[in-house]
Amino acid sequence: MNDIFRKNAAEALTEAIAKAYPDKIEDICLAVKTNTQELADFIYNKLESPKDAKNGDYAFPTFILAKPLRNKPPEIAGNILEHLDKTVFTQTGPYLNMKISTQDAAEEVLSNIFSRQNNFGNEILDESKTIVIDFSSPNIAKPFGIGHLRSTAIGNSLYRLFEKLGYNVVGINHLGDWGTQFGKMIAAYKKWGDDEKLKVAPIDHLFDLYVKFHKEAETDQTLESEGREWFKKLEEGNQEAAELWQIFKDYSLQEFQRVYDLLGVHFDYYTGESFYNDKMDGVIERLQKAGLTKESEGALIVDLEEQGMNPCLLKKTDGATLYATRDLAGILYRHGAYKFDKALYVVGMDQQEHFKQVFKVIELLGEDFAKDLIHVSFGFIRFKDQAMSTRKGNIVFLNDVIKTAIEKVTNIIKEKNPNLPDLEKTAQQVAVGAIVFADLSVSKHKDVNFDWDEVLNFEGATGPYLQYTHARLSSLVHKYGLDISGDANFSFYNSPEEKALIMQLHKFGQTIRLAAGKYEPNIIAAYLLELAAVFNRFYQRKDNDGKLVKIISEDNPEETKARMLLVASVRIVMKEGLRLMGIEAPEEM
Ligand code: ARG
Repeated sequence: MNDIFRKNAAEALTEAIAKAYPDKIEDICLAVKTNTQELADFIYNKLESPKDAKNGDYAFPTFILAKPLRNKPPEIAGNILEHLDKTVFTQTGPYLNMKISTQDAAEEVLSNIFSRQNNFGNEILDESKTIVIDFSSPNIAKPFGIGHLRSTAIGNSLYRLFEKLGYNVVGINHLGDWGTQFGKMIAAYKKWGDDEKLKVAPIDHLFDLYVKFHKEAETDQTLESEGREWFKKLEEGNQEAAELWQIFKDYSLQEFQRVYDLLGVHFDYYTGESFYNDKMDGVIERLQKAGLTKESEGALIVDLEEQGMNPCLLKKTDGATLYATRDLAGILYRHGAYKFDKALYVVGMDQQEHFKQVFKVIELLGEDFAKDLIHVSFGFIRFKDQAMSTRKGNIVFLNDVIKTAIEKVTNIIKEKNPNLPDLEKTAQQVAVGAIVFADLSVSKHKDVNFDWDEVLNFEGATGPYLQYTHARLSSLVHKYGLDISGDANFSFYNSPEEKALIMQLHKFGQTIRLAAGKYEPNIIAAYLLELAAVFNRFYQRKDNDGKLVKIISEDNPEETKARMLLVASVRIVMKEGLRLMGIEAPEEM
C-alpha cells in the first residue's frame, strides 16, 4: 500500500466494515478470496476515482460486499458510513467516497517534496533486486542510426526509473562488434581502405567501404567468400585481422561516445558480442550434452519445430558462430555474473522472433530464470522530412538529426530570448530534449512519426514545452528571491486548482512504479504533460471577481509564501520527471 491517502482510506473502511458487520468478516473474506489480515489490501486495490470529482478523491464500490452480506449495496454503504468519520466520508448510492482535505494533502505531499527534494518518489526495496538492461547496442563500424536512438532513449529512461525504485541496475551496451560483417569490413579495407580518411572521419569511411563492398559483391562472387574467410581468421585469432578489427572498434567507440555524452547516457559495461568469443564453446557443449542440438544441412541448430518456431542457428556450415549463439552465451554469463531478477532487452520489434527463440532455448536447458528474460520491443521512427532519410541510402543518422535540431532550436531561442546567456548549451539541451521526448512520448508499441514542426513546438505536447514550463517555474522562484520552506500556511490553499495540483504531485511515485512496471517511459511523459496543464490552470486562476490571481503579491506575503511553496514543488517534480526521461531542465531558455 504505497499511496498514503489510499492506504488511510482502505484502513478506515476496513475498520468500519468490521464494526458494522462483526460477525460477517469471515464470510466477506471468503467471498472475495482473501483473509482478515489482507482485507485492507484488497480494499486498497478496489478503490476507484469517483466519477464526479466533487464527490471526493477515492470511492469504494460496495457491490463487492452484496453477496456475502446478502443486502443491497446502498444499504450496506449506509451501514458502513455509520462507523466512518462523516467529515471525510460521504455516500452516493452504492459508493462510499473519501475526500482528502487540501490542507492534509498539502501537509503530506509538499512537506515530503521539500524535505526529500529530487529524492521525492525514491523507494528503498526490502530486499535487494538486480535488473540488467541491455540497450542501445549499435553496430560497430556503422553509423549510429535513428533506430538505435529509440533503444538508447527507452533503455536510458528505464535505467533511471528502476534506479529510483531502489533496484541495482546494470546497464549493458551489447555492441555489435562481431560477426561476418567484420570479415567483410576487413576485406573491404584491405582493398579500398585509406588510413587518412579513417583518421578524419572513421565511421563515414567505414560505412562507405561497407556500402561499396555490398555493391561490388553483386557482380563479384568472390567477395562474399573473402569476407567469410576473414571472419573465420578473426575468430581463430589471426593477428592481422585482430589488429584491423581493434582499430575499427576503437574509432567507432570514440564516435559513439560523443553521442552518448550529448544524450547524457551511461553504461556500466560495454561488453559487446566479441566479449563472448571465448564463451560460446561452453554454451554449445552444454546444449549438446542436453541433447538439444542437431545438424541440419551442415549447420548446427536447435530445432524448435515442436515449439512452433524456426530453428535457432548456433553455427554455420563453415563453423562460424552467429548472433544467437552470442546472445545465448550472454544470457548465461549475465545470470552468473549479476544474479539478475530480471534481464531486459530493449531492441526493436523486428527482432521479436530472435528473442523468442533464444529465450526458448534457455527454457529448454531447464533454466528457471528463462521467465525473467524480457524483450522490451518497440516500433520504428519515421521521418516526415524526406531529406532526412535520403542522404545515404535509407539510414537516418542520429548525428544529422541532432545537428539539425540544434540549428533549429538556436534560431527559435534567438528570436524568443535574444539575450540568453548560455545559448549554445541551452540549445543543445533543448534539441536533445525535443528528440528524446518525441521518442518517449509515444507508446513503445507504436511507431514514432517524427515531424520537426511538431517536435519543436514550444506550446505543443513536446519536450521543449515541458522544459519551458520548468524555466518559467524557475524564473518565478528567482523573482520571488526569498527562501522557500516546506511549512507555509496551508489554509491558503482553498481553490480546486490548488487541490488538483497537490494531488497531481502526489501521483508522482505511483506513476514511476507504473511506468517501470510496464517498461513504458511514455507514462512519465503523459504525467508531466498533465502536471504542466494542471499548473497552468493554477497559474491562470481567477478570483471570484474574475481577476487573475497573481502568484507573487507584495500585499499578501503569507499567501505568496504558500503559493511559492507550490510553485517550487512543481519545479522539483518537473525537473526530476524530465531527468527520469533523460532530459535536462535548463533554468532559462
Ligand atoms: N546490435 C544489434 C542490432 O543493432 C542489437 C543488439 C541487441 N542486444 C542483444 N543482446 N541482442 O541489431
